[in-house]
Amino acid sequence: MMDVGFIGWRGMVGSVLMQRMRETDDFAAIAPVFFSSAKPLPQPPDIGRAVPPMRDAHDLDALARLPVLVSCQGGDYTSEVHPKLRARGWNGYWIDAASALRMKDDAVIILDPVNRPVIDAALARGVKDYIGGNCTVSLMLMGLGGLFQADLVEWATAMTYQAASGAGAQHMRELLEQMGDLHRSVHGRLSDPAAAILDIDQTVHAAMRRADFPRQHFEHALAGSLLPWIDKDLGDGQSREEWKAHAEANKILGRTNGAEVMLDGICVRVGAMRCHSQALTIKLKRDLPLAEVEAIIGSANAWVKVVPNDKRATLDALTPAAVTGSLDIPVGRLRKLPMGGEYLSAFTVGDQLLWGAAEPLRRMLGILRESGNSGTSKLN
Ligand code: HSE
Repeated sequence: MMDVGFIGWRGMVGSVLMQRMRETDDFAAIAPVFFSSAKPLPQPPDIGRAVPPMRDAHDLDALARLPVLVSCQGGDYTSEVHPKLRARGWNGYWIDAASALRMKDDAVIILDPVNRPVIDAALARGVKDYIGGNCTVSLMLMGLGGLFQADLVEWATAMTYQAASGAGAQHMRELLEQMGDLHRSVHGRLSDPAAAILDIDQTVHAAMRRADFPRQHFEHALAGSLLPWIDKDLGDGQSREEWKAHAEANKILGRTNGAEVMLDGICVRVGAMRCHSQALTIKLKRDLPLAEVEAIIGSANAWVKVVPNDKRATLDALTPAAVTGSLDIPVGRLRKLPMGGEYLSAFTVGDQLLWGAAEPLRRMLGILRESGNSGTSKLN
């Protein structure tokens, strides 16, 4: 049994992690200790057997007794607690969904179907911090990783269509509130076939601009609109979400010192619930036949699925509605562009809470178990 402390298991990513761990029977080989920062402390989740009493997420003594900690509590918690644990000599494995430690030199971004050699090499040299990647970057590499692994990509742009879940649970609720508000504003006229669509549209538009339109979390209307800026403004025209594409993808791939692949794009929030989509333009290093490109993409891992580039297959399989709740990563709209045989278009969709967040963490626990690297429990 591997002793593991879980922090932030009640939030959205943490709940998906718990759900996946139950589905895959991970708790058969893991002795969990659950931590919470809520007061009073909640009951631990049901894993089908008794677990130790809940601990306070700020109880450094209790945390430091565990050889492995998994945090889905968020960046503020990581920034506060992780340095304190390390400062007192805790040498356990820290697995984290938050971005706080991602780009640190002594942390590895985990996406094992893409970078297992990077993870194994880090374990061998004693790295202790294993951090989940940005969801969009992870989903892009799960889909197109084959091309990167074969060193076929000269540069790529990823134009994203990111779901509300990437912003948080409250944002998902607000998207639905906005949809409901817009619908209510024209409900009577929608059922009247004689009502003029331009009048309906004008009313919807007016509703979006009402002072009491539900926009506490997004600050703007997302329903019926979109938001072409995600995360902080870096001050040079790029958003922090866009910056992550190049920085994190190259770190995941272990490409440094001039071997980086140029990646950039525009990140856009759309009214999808929990699947991020992205349209890529890829400049290949060589003009390969499309069938070969498809074979390389489709054989990169067990979850990527090449979708034939026709209307029916695309609309059946390459949408957030088709992919939500599934680990599949469909990649479609594969086509050589008229600029030349090296220019490839692609579109991919993935569940932001699965491969984009919880699944790499869950699998990292499996890697630690398999490798016998989890250290000795100091639990009494
Ligand atoms: N930053 C992402 C988003 C989610 O806002 O969609 C987490 O990686």
